Amino acid sequence: MQPSDRTEDGSTKDGSHVETTLAPPHREVAAQTHNAGRVYGKGNAQVRAIDGVTVSFAKGQFAAIMGPSGSGKSTLLHCMAGLDNLTSGSVSIGDTNVTALSEAKRTELRRDRVGFIFQSYNLVPSLTARENILLHCTFAKTKPDQAWFDEVVSTMGLADRLSHTPTELSGGQQQRVAAARALVHRPEIVFADEPTGALDSRSGRRLLTLLAHVAHDKNQTIVMVTHDPVAASFADRVIFLADGKVVQEITKPTVERILQIVQELDEKQENKNAEHLDEWGDPLAVTE
Ligand SMILES: Nc1ncnc2c1ncn2[C@@H]1O[C@H](COP(=O)(O)OP(=O)(O)O)[C@@H](O)[C@H]1O
Ligand SMILES: [Mg+2]
Repeated sequence: MQPSDRTEDGSTKDGSHVETTLAPPHREVAAQTHNAGRVYGKGNAQVRAIDGVTVSFAKGQFAAIMGPSGSGKSTLLHCMAGLDNLTSGSVSIGDTNVTALSEAKRTELRRDRVGFIFQSYNLVPSLTARENILLHCTFAKTKPDQAWFDEVVSTMGLADRLSHTPTELSGGQQQRVAAARALVHRPEIVFADEPTGALDSRSGRRLLTLLAHVAHDKNQTIVMVTHDPVAASFADRVIFLADGKVVQEITKPTVERILQIVQELDEKQENKNAEHLDEWGDPLAVTE
């Protein structure tokens, strides 16, 4: 984007807004990373999945993370939620420095304060949908709020599926159970990894509306990875990752603006790939 595309307050002509600071100073911080890095493997097989990510999420914010496959989205989410360990930098949830916690304390944090919608659902196969949804409450020995349980279950269209086990449910139904499980215990922050990936557009919209509702009306925080520009447009803010780094972010996203940025980032990546081919020679080129 050219600077001339922006108006004085940072808005672009299409109504989206370019962030100039990562931390919204006027609101309480729900989660943040400082120079977060995660390296997998050793030697030649080493992969820098996330590489110096500094980002913060305000309480009550619904944020989306986008980026090509392999750009580090799931790694960032897992490290923020205390499911994986950074190799450098730090993560905090509220005032808690997650990086410094013992394994036991991290388990407690995940149970009591975090909801996670896994890309691959991660439901317990031997438990019914109801038992899966109530898993956090069971572990924490707390009673769910029945009215909220009913609201989540009915919004997710699961009322007549509660006694089924995961193998008796379709992929979309399993994903809806996984979403309900992450929301029922009212965690202060919900991480969602492609939560609408298996959903038809109607169920997808219902979930996205529910996520926006818990953020805006219940002051919970939502951090959602998605590759779907329509899903991302439900968020207040979209962060774009490439090669493990934050490369751009916008607030008040529109589908058009998201598509435009995705295309720009794709072009940049293609140019980079072309440079590599120049350096190494095109292995697919036919030589006489
Ligand atoms: N457990 C792991 N072991 C080794 N490499 C991993 C592991 N998890 C992720 N990676 C690598 O880290 C990079 C980022 O992966 P990931 O966070 O899953 O990306 P995304 O979710 O954006 O598709 C990829 O190159 C992936 O192959
Ligand atoms: Mg992923």
